Amino acid sequence: MTLKEKYRTPEALEELEKVVTAEFSAIQDAATAESFRIKYLGKKGLFRSLLKGLREMPEDKRKVFGGKLNTLRNTIEEQFNQAPWEESSVPAEDAGFDPTLPAWPFPQGSIHPLILIRNEICDIFVSMGFEIAYGPDVETDYYNFGALNFPPHHPARDMQDTFFVSGDILLRTHTSPVQIRVMEHQQPPVRCIMPGMVYRNEEISARSYCQFGQIEGLYVDKHVSLADLKGTLLAFSKQFFGDETDIKIRGSFFPFTEPSIEIDVLCFICKGTGCSVCKQTGWLEILGAGMVHPNVLHNAGIDNEKFTGFAFGMGIERIAMLKYGINDIRLFYENDVRLLKQF
Ligand code: DAH
Repeated sequence: MTLKEKYRTPEALEELEKVVTAEFSAIQDAATAESFRIKYLGKKGLFRSLLKGLREMPEDKRKVFGGKLNTLRNTIEEQFNQAPWEESSVPAEDAGFDPTLPAWPFPQGSIHPLILIRNEICDIFVSMGFEIAYGPDVETDYYNFGALNFPPHHPARDMQDTFFVSGDILLRTHTSPVQIRVMEHQQPPVRCIMPGMVYRNEEISARSYCQFGQIEGLYVDKHVSLADLKGTLLAFSKQFFGDETDIKIRGSFFPFTEPSIEIDVLCFICKGTGCSVCKQTGWLEILGAGMVHPNVLHNAGIDNEKFTGFAFGMGIERIAMLKYGINDIRLFYENDVRLLKQF
């Protein structure tokens, strides 16, 4: 006979009350409380199934039996819910729980390829003694251009390139303004790298996007020279692209550096012999750099007679595209899991 069949009459319910009450008083801890709850009060517990069985009873019996059954269940449930059950004193193994079993494999996200590259680059510079600094994405004209020695009518200020917010407020077009913010708060020696997102009003294509990441570098101290810049970037390139890499310096122009240079690294795909990635040149353009312009030091409150510095800035997407062989910059911002799952 099942319990359900046994407790079908009002008299049998009195018997049930005794049994349940006895079992209730015998509860010792959270584990036995849980078994009790499952047995009597749970979804598949005895009270539920008895209540379901009411349907099969003749009407007159159903009323008396149903009323008593409900009262009993409510009393027990109330007492049960009020009791503060202690955690089990039974060791987990004895309770049939095996803590040595492997955990259920919860699916985990992965780190975005741009963040991987950013972290890798930052780690290398941190290992050389650079500190990390951040600045705001929404900047003023002064920090983004003026303090960086851009003349008032420089084409980079043009509406074509810059997203203006209102008046003098804009979305920074590069991470170089963080240089000014850092130097305003810190006298040399300054050794800093500044990662961040930048924004440009450019037509979106496989090669350019309206936002992208940059990493800015700055080193200001007494007697900092172009040779220090070259040595630092060569050491970085060897760690990042591999020991056999080499760098090449080309003259360039930026308003905030004098002299200004661009740095190419030996193509890590073909090692300089020429391939489609380096467009048969053997070299890859990776960053702009130079000696910090004396006006910039002055604007940031640093004595340009006493101190010199170098700075550099590189685009994260470009490096990630080269390193991972990704041929469309838009893929980084579309959040397609088929791409993200590969990292
Ligand atoms: N800010 C420049 C750009 O976005 C990159 C750059 C060039 C940064 C030279 C520098 C630098 O710090 O010295 O194109």
